[in-house]
Amino acid sequence: MKKTILSGSTVTGDLTLGNYIGAIHNWKQLQDQYDCLYFLADLHALTTTQDPSVLKNRIYSFFAQYLALGLDPKKNVIFVQSHVHEHTELNWILTCLTPMGYLNRMTQFKEKAEKNIKNINAGLFTYPVLMAADILLYQADLVPVGEDQRQHLELCRDIVGFFERAYQKDIFKMPEAHIGKVGARIMSLQDPLKKMSKSDDNEKNFVSIIEDPKKIEKKIKSAATDSGTEIQFDEENKPGVSNLLTLYSALTGRTISELEQAYVGKMYGHLKVDLAEVVIETLKPVRAQYDDLIKNQDYLDELMKSGAERAQARAQKTLAQVYQAIGLVARKN
Ligand code: TRP
Repeated sequence: MKKTILSGSTVTGDLTLGNYIGAIHNWKQLQDQYDCLYFLADLHALTTTQDPSVLKNRIYSFFAQYLALGLDPKKNVIFVQSHVHEHTELNWILTCLTPMGYLNRMTQFKEKAEKNIKNINAGLFTYPVLMAADILLYQADLVPVGEDQRQHLELCRDIVGFFERAYQKDIFKMPEAHIGKVGARIMSLQDPLKKMSKSDDNEKNFVSIIEDPKKIEKKIKSAATDSGTEIQFDEENKPGVSNLLTLYSALTGRTISELEQAYVGKMYGHLKVDLAEVVIETLKPVRAQYDDLIKNQDYLDELMKSGAERAQARAQKTLAQVYQAIGLVARKN
């Protein structure tokens, strides 16, 4: 039996070059070794009020972006969270078991609440419980999470314990963080000390995978570089140039030292011009594929449907066990 990996992504922004590199290094391998589920966390996006037409387009766009990056819908279960209503049902059960005190400790809640003082809603507060429901419904063994989601995964593990203590039933698998092979870590273009993120407020910090080539060029050319002029990999003293070299190496397969050699005596500008071209060429087929997919909404609908059906068949089983364990009466058919 293969282990189950589950990964969700909140529907905000567009996927970035960082995602591209993670994807090409991980997905093919993961899909052979594990039973993989990927979903778009559209419900999680609602903790900030969304413009309905923007959200709708974004859900299609995100789905198409994942496919354009090479996620295979036959080998992986790819679906939209709101298409499987069991997520919100289990969410309620788990919400009733999660102490406020535990949620109060979540640093992401504190950060987000600070950033968005005008809309500190209860959903923002209980967000990690919905995340726990996402994970536990599928009996996931492993969850690839970044630093920012680690605490939420810990809470999910606590919730497994709360359920067992309350109902004396051991239904959920205890999930663990999946530490994948670390592909290249791509940093923000303007602030190379932090990770490139799709939800960055400053869009100069990232290149999206479906970005216009002119914009790509501009963003790479205006990426932060460091004092000095030498093109050398030195993360501590030259984080900007190092990031560009990492990116270059990840996209071309040339080693960092090979690149350093090639750029001896050249300027940052040379590196940027070349790198911009590499990025544009790399993303060209991704964007072409995306353009094809996004025109074909019927096809996307169909894939979403079959993904949701496969996911739901599994989610239903877990939820039925939970309802039974807590004493709810099953509706007779
Ligand atoms: N909160 C995660 C993020 O913003 C997305 C997410 C929602 C998720 N549910 C999940 C990730 C379940 C892993 C497992 O990145």
